[in-house]
Amino acid sequence: MKQDMIAILDLGSTENTVVARAIRDMGVYSEIHPHDITVDELKALDNVKGIILNGGENRVVDGRPVDIDPALYNSGVPVMAIDHPTAQCEKKYTAIPEEDVLKDFVLKQCKAETNWNMKNFIEDQVELIRRQVGDKKVLLALSGGVDSSVVAAMLIKAIGQQLVCVHVNHGLMRKNESESVVEVFRNQLHANLIYVDATERFLGKLSGVSDPEEKRKIIGGEFIRVFEEEARKLDGIHFLGQGTIYPDIIESGTKTAKMVKSHHNVGGLPEDLQFELVEPLKQLFKDEVRACGIELGLPAGMVYRQPFPGPGLGVRCLGAITRDRLEAVRESDAILREEFEKAGLDKKVWQYFTVVPDFKSVGMKNHARCFEYMVIVRAINTIDAMTASVEKVDWEVLERITNRILVEVENVNRVCYDCSPKPPATIEFE
Ligand code: XMP
Repeated sequence: MKQDMIAILDLGSTENTVVARAIRDMGVYSEIHPHDITVDELKALDNVKGIILNGGENRVVDGRPVDIDPALYNSGVPVMAIDHPTAQCEKKYTAIPEEDVLKDFVLKQCKAETNWNMKNFIEDQVELIRRQVGDKKVLLALSGGVDSSVVAAMLIKAIGQQLVCVHVNHGLMRKNESESVVEVFRNQLHANLIYVDATERFLGKLSGVSDPEEKRKIIGGEFIRVFEEEARKLDGIHFLGQGTIYPDIIESGTKTAKMVKSHHNVGGLPEDLQFELVEPLKQLFKDEVRACGIELGLPAGMVYRQPFPGPGLGVRCLGAITRDRLEAVRESDAILREEFEKAGLDKKVWQYFTVVPDFKSVGMKNHARCFEYMVIVRAINTIDAMTASVEKVDWEVLERITNRILVEVENVNRVCYDCSPKPPATIEFE
């Protein structure tokens, strides 16, 4: 089904995605396109029912003034402008109009049909995937993150056993994370899943390495190598599934999205292993990806999980990774997650985790002096990960978390709470 679309032309506004989201929330599909799109290109999209010119102040993109091809005003569909346009169009607004004004334009003037919903989207994608893939096989790196999990569920629905998932456990996963990938995808969805426990290999490569960027490089590089080795063992793979989402494409993605791309990007595979890409989520915003995952039957815990960096607990076990501190990060993180869930904070707080620095402090245990590690708890809220504020967690909740960590986690005698906003602190510690 070709869905009706409202095209938003980017004339330098920072709010293109806000407008696109508002229109999609009405049940009408919307895409953002560059200001210099031609009438022919627009017509080739086939289903454009209206155009919104979205300019910032003075229509400036990358420091240069821009305008649209004047022929677009006569392309046969209504045009609305959000800025100070000089040219001819049906409606002009100086700021993003109220919801009912936008609704009036989209539904009454453009007469766009409200058929954008996850059920239709999944049906369409299943059809498109089957057409693209035929009877060939698709390979997917399944990290257990939201995007790769939803891509996997979509591909399982479309092509079942023609999908081969590879889950690489780099030993830096959170507690029970790899187990839940196996449980959900192999046991419940009966996916063709190859599970690779590469813990020793990763920890070996990381041994003694304390520079954060070096750690990231090793983890990212090793991930590609392990995946590549698995890919070489398989016969007849033609396609590579990828969890590209809409913010990656319009390049207004959060820092997280960009980082995830650079760390879990398997585009670094060698020439003889280049596959054609299958990217069924590339039209979706993050919250639509989650809605899609729920519609496909994935557990809420997997679909609504907080962002987790590609290098995993590797950047939360500060400095050179040691097994005792890595276990302390993993165990304390599990306790924090359990207690936040019990207190209902898991639905409220954007990101929360623990870190363990690579130094010890003095304490008392069993009437004797001890010299052990500390756990630092961090809980923050943010919209785009560029700035962040600290969650004011109830003292009693913090006390419960502290007591549990001090009793249950080995080699730890102190728990601290990080009160620093971003900036000047970053969200992660390294
Ligand atoms: P910072 O620490 O820069 O983090 O304030 C912003 C967001 O990005 C996540 N982050 C990463 N994600 N690979 C990732 O996939 C990384 O190397 C990485 N470093 C930071 C971080 O968790 C936060 O959500």
